[in-house]
Amino acid sequence: MHFELLDVRIAYLVELETWLISGLFMHRASPTGGYLASWVHASARSGHMIVQADMDLREALYTTRAMRRITGEPISVEIQARILDAAVRAPTAGNTQTWRFMLVDDPNKKARLGEIYRECMDTFGRAHYGARTAAAEANPKDPANQRHLRIMRSSDWLAENFDKYLLLFAFGTDDLYSLLPALWSAQLAARGEGVGSTLTRMLTARSNAVFEVLGVPADEGWQMAACVAFGWPTGRWGRAERVAVEEVSYQDSWGNPLGFSVNGPLWP
Ligand SMILES: Cc1cc2nc3c(=O)[nH]c(=O)nc-3n(C[C@H](O)[C@H](O)[C@H](O)COP(=O)(O)O)c2cc1C
Repeated sequence: MHFELLDVRIAYLVELETWLISGLFMHRASPTGGYLASWVHASARSGHMIVQADMDLREALYTTRAMRRITGEPISVEIQARILDAAVRAPTAGNTQTWRFMLVDDPNKKARLGEIYRECMDTFGRAHYGARTAAAEANPKDPANQRHLRIMRSSDWLAENFDKYLLLFAFGTDDLYSLLPALWSAQLAARGEGVGSTLTRMLTARSNAVFEVLGVPADEGWQMAACVAFGWPTGRWGRAERVAVEEVSYQDSWGNPLGFSVNGPLWP
């Protein structure tokens, strides 16, 4: 991140020493040097002030990825507000905005949701990934298998620590596709604050139980689109590595290669 890309506006400032000192010492490295971003999050985390930092859009796009290992420290209401306010800017088909969002930070509810999440993992997650995981364990030296096993370990961590996250549930009626851009905007907004996130649809396998915990009316047609778990990451932000554009993109006809080279990744 370059300093000139940041437009830092201090809306108000209380307890100057606290945020300045915590900010200076809470630097976490990012591939492009996240000093100022860390300084901003450390400040915002204290909840004593509002700081707005505009992260380079491409840094946010390239480094927003599943961050499951978290500290469990609280996320200030100012940050929660900015995450939600970004989410509701997202498009919906026909601009109907037929959606409801619910932040869940109540320890008892999160403990119960964690139990339900683990039940879903045991029943559906392991059924879905069981064979792939067994094959990976049989040949752990293969880099693709190592990647798979890393994701599985990280997913297990999320399941075991589900009550540590701030949870955001998104509900819609017939058009659940319209919820996903909003949740991705929420994840990007969180990234801008230094907050990690992971999207999961696992709980939709037991939505009745989840609806009961959250008091969602059963007779109004609401369905759960997904849940995003937010927290302060313990690990480093890194660029999401993906299969190259050329390998998954066509032009004009199925199977027809692009007429240009991307030679990505194009950031940093
Ligand atoms: C629709 C969807 C469902 C997902 N479900 C889960 C999930 O149930 N549990 C989980 O830990 N991660 C889940 N993820 C996160 C992905 O596993 C993760 O984004 C992917 O492995 C790529 O890893 P990266 O973002 O760290 O690069 C989900 C992501 C999407 C888009």
